[in-house]
Amino acid sequence: MRTTPAHMIIDTTLLNKYNVPVPRYTSYPTVPFWHEQIDAQQWLSVFQQQFQVENHRKGISIYIHLPFCESLCTYCGCNKKITTNHSVEDEYLQAIIAEWGLYRQLMAEAPVIREMHLGGGTPTFFSPANLQKLVEAILKDSVVHPEHEFSIEGHPNNTTLSHLTTLYKAGFRRISFGVQDNDPQVQRIINRIQPFENVQRVTEQARTVGLTAVNFDHIYGLPLQTTQTIEKSILQSLQLRPDRVAFYSYAHVPWTSRGQRLFDENDLPGSDLKMELYQTGRQLFLDAGYTDIGMDHFALPGDALHQAWQNGTLHRNFMGYTTQHSGMLLGLGVSAISDAGIAFAQNHKTLGDYYKSIGNSPLPPVTKGYFLTKEDEAFQKYILDVICRGTTVFQTEHLPLLQQYIFPELTGLEADQLITWNEKGIQVTSLGRHFLRNICKAFDLHLLRKQSAGNMPLFSKAI
Ligand SMILES: C[S@@+](CC[C@H](N)C(=O)[O-])C[C@H]1O[C@@H](n2cnc3c(N)ncnc32)[C@H](O)[C@@H]1O
Ligand code: SF4
Repeated sequence: MRTTPAHMIIDTTLLNKYNVPVPRYTSYPTVPFWHEQIDAQQWLSVFQQQFQVENHRKGISIYIHLPFCESLCTYCGCNKKITTNHSVEDEYLQAIIAEWGLYRQLMAEAPVIREMHLGGGTPTFFSPANLQKLVEAILKDSVVHPEHEFSIEGHPNNTTLSHLTTLYKAGFRRISFGVQDNDPQVQRIINRIQPFENVQRVTEQARTVGLTAVNFDHIYGLPLQTTQTIEKSILQSLQLRPDRVAFYSYAHVPWTSRGQRLFDENDLPGSDLKMELYQTGRQLFLDAGYTDIGMDHFALPGDALHQAWQNGTLHRNFMGYTTQHSGMLLGLGVSAISDAGIAFAQNHKTLGDYYKSIGNSPLPPVTKGYFLTKEDEAFQKYILDVICRGTTVFQTEHLPLLQQYIFPELTGLEADQLITWNEKGIQVTSLGRHFLRNICKAFDLHLLRKQSAGNMPLFSKAI
């Protein structure tokens, strides 16, 4: 795979051209094409069958969604429940442990845990003792793979030394802190007052305790951000040398995230400024020695993601990019998504429905989902190849479909020098790495068919 020249400035006309609504491709088919209701029994059969294969091959990945947060950040697009009442922790833990028990019964042998990620909401809303209880319940009668990776999302305002020590002892080595923006005015308008001293304290404590990887999340496109404020904010974060930075484009989706209606849309940067914010941030990361992995991720050369990107072993799932490609990701908790390779299932999205299902049914609390066809599997592979390796080889049996839907799209991408291609396959250029979502879209048969019928679902914009 080619590398990006460190100081390449991307042409604004090109950025503008490709700044259209596109999925993030954490799954294919993407969520808008899933069925609103799937057969939970059929999902269990697929789970059982895939578990048998994947447990021996690589072990399984577990994602646990911990939805509570103490206050609402108005930009937030995640599934969360705002409360300051910590008595909710116990009921939620019991539900997760019951859900795990339901899947555990179906496993013919002890699960080999390769990857575990606690996401949210705010996982550090839970007390250290409760997080320990949760992890112990999952690991009881399980085998921890020698090359496991356990990670967690932490909020700099409420992560304590006790959290970090507990997590370290439980085998966690990676933590992602939501920094978002260090500017006080931006913090005020997004309702996230987070003094930089907090970020500094938790970063230093995490490293002292023994966590080997500290990641930061930053967002560009937030209200009141300017190139000056974002530069200052990022330079401040870079003083702490995070191992990896996710530099997310603010996804404005007020039709699903109502908190985003709480600030004035006039305070959002326009698309030209948003692109300048992206270019400013990207340049700062490159200047500081980070590599642009693509899809919003920058990593230091020693980081596992950087190494996986270089040796072609990167994988992508609902947790974003990952270095641990297990073909079985089990999602536990409200709204969590499972990926069994040939099927997806999402849990109920409201706490009420989730609890009701756990309490009343012997079946898992799944609602939405999708069972892949052979055609989906083939096009999923093309998309994963593009997004993780920047290259893919076409199967001759797909030529008629490729000619009808895909090749016309590739011709346009080639004209803009984002790819090179022929009837055998494609190669993403170093410029194309900045437009991976758009290149994946060229292989999204579901979307292309819908587009040709003049009926497009809603997505956030690429930039
Ligand atoms: C679940 S949150 C992280 C953990 C913790 N709740 C926190 O905020 O620090 C995951 C990340 O999603 C990103 N995020 C949330 N809403 C977003 C949006 N509308 N657009 C882009 N990124 C968003 C933020 O960077 C956030 O850190
Ligand atoms: S950004 Fe994090 S802390 Fe803020 S509301 Fe969303 S999940 Fe909660």
